[in-house]
Amino acid sequence: MKKLFIIANWKSNNDSIQVKDWIERFTSHDLGFTNKEIIICPSFVHLSIFKSSFLNHKLTSLGAQDISHFDEGSYTGEVNGKQIKEFADYVIVGHSERRTDFNETHEIIAQKIAMAEKYNLTPILCVSSLDQIYNSKFVIHNSELIVAYEPLSAVGSGNPDSPENAEKVAINIKKELNAFVLYGGSVNSDNVKSFTQIASIDGVLVGRASLDPFEFLEIIKNA
Ligand code: PGA
Repeated sequence: MKKLFIIANWKSNNDSIQVKDWIERFTSHDLGFTNKEIIICPSFVHLSIFKSSFLNHKLTSLGAQDISHFDEGSYTGEVNGKQIKEFADYVIVGHSERRTDFNETHEIIAQKIAMAEKYNLTPILCVSSLDQIYNSKFVIHNSELIVAYEPLSAVGSGNPDSPENAEKVAINIKKELNAFVLYGGSVNSDNVKSFTQIASIDGVLVGRASLDPFEFLEIIKNA
């Protein structure tokens, strides 16, 4: 049975009361899964709440949604790899919202991946096209790499890519990189299996649907 990654990307959503409520509901259900790695990526400010709640919840890991491309130092507002590693083992890098809204370039993304590697964080690199793989500038030395293929038209739209196209892209990514490849973009509990049943797809990155703990549990169950 292949290993599946089910990743929740909460983006800039939820306050601490909502986070605690989500955790209470989510952990009230038994996650009796063996082949699924669940990774929750809340805002930086909520990582500590998750960490203390999940200490005894072995099946769930934590990720950050971004990482500074600088190391620690005088960079106001940045959160660096060393700080993230205190709480998380994964970090999302190059999400399309950051490439578009924060002008992240291939060079910046490469520096972020280098910082993730330096602090032993597994990068979850998001790409919306194969070109972003072909034009990328990063080098992976020895860490595991997760790539999430998230076409722009599918992110937050309710219109997922077709599983056939996602499969083609995943196969091509794997020709270029030694990586786990996930699909992301309007994944929900009804369509998740159509992606995870594909041999070349190793899981899903879930945005909006992961904000509802019961829907996210259904996604995990159905994957
Ligand atoms: P969505 O977001 O599931 O809301 O489409 C996915 C993502 O942006 O990672």
